[in-house]
Amino acid sequence: MHGSVAAALEPRFTLHRLWQEDDPDAFLRAHGPSIRALAVSTLAGPVGADLFDRLPALEIVANFGVGYDNVDIAAARARGIVVTNTPGVLDEEVADLAVALLLATIRQLPQAERFLRAGLWRDGGFPLSPTLRGRRVGLLGLGGIGKAIARRLEGFGVDLAYHGRTRQAAVAYPWYPTPLALAEACDTLIAILPGGPATRHIIDAAVLAALGPQGVLINVARGSVVDQDALIDALRQGTILAAGLDVYAAEPEVPAELLALPNAVLLPHVGSASEHTRSAMGHLVADNLIAWFERGHPLTPV
Ligand code: GLV
Repeated sequence: MHGSVAAALEPRFTLHRLWQEDDPDAFLRAHGPSIRALAVSTLAGPVGADLFDRLPALEIVANFGVGYDNVDIAAARARGIVVTNTPGVLDEEVADLAVALLLATIRQLPQAERFLRAGLWRDGGFPLSPTLRGRRVGLLGLGGIGKAIARRLEGFGVDLAYHGRTRQAAVAYPWYPTPLALAEACDTLIAILPGGPATRHIIDAAVLAALGPQGVLINVARGSVVDQDALIDALRQGTILAAGLDVYAAEPEVPAELLALPNAVLLPHVGSASEHTRSAMGHLVADNLIAWFERGHPLTPV
């Protein structure tokens, strides 16, 4: 979690840095009953009934991240615990990353750089790459980040379409009622929808096959939205052309099969990871806690 969280909270609250505890279990036994708030990172593991049982005074969970599939919302609601996230402040940053990953994947930029560094250029040019020209790009999810991606892609002259649970009246791009229908109409899919049980493996073997042999998948959402084994098969067999991934099924584990694939561009979940944006997220985490304890109203509850 960015240092701005602790910096903003320290003057107002008694702050325990749980991740620095040698024995978090013993710490929770000793201090759990007095803890009134949790600030959690999306990568810190599940926050749910087991933890809540040990924190009987808990009022609020402030999640460092827009995605909150790490928090069991039903369990929080059942105990009257407020949950907040960090929407908005990271939209532009994640959209930049999504477009960068799309271009890097299609123009094979990491592969080209490895080629140069390996000293292979003198023996001949880097092989010709596929292109973004003429692509039909489907956005799987059209929230704040999806719209920021769409605004950028307007400038690239590609055709856009989208799937979300509901058609948005103010959006002119064609809407498809299912992920499969979207994939059938597109050759490039950008996943930017929330994780959690409702979207688990929404991109399966059938959706990947529907993209076709020129298909490209970009995932900047959650690893859980893709059937990772089906994706590995599709990349291996050439069912699709390539994938650019920022997220994985069991982070920080990345399967060896994926690491071995030349047609996958792999990033370590850096969508929002600029100093500027992580600081903005940190301030929003802190401001949610301050607003809750000073005014009884969090800023961005989920
Ligand atoms: C990061 O993945 C986030 O949800 O903010």
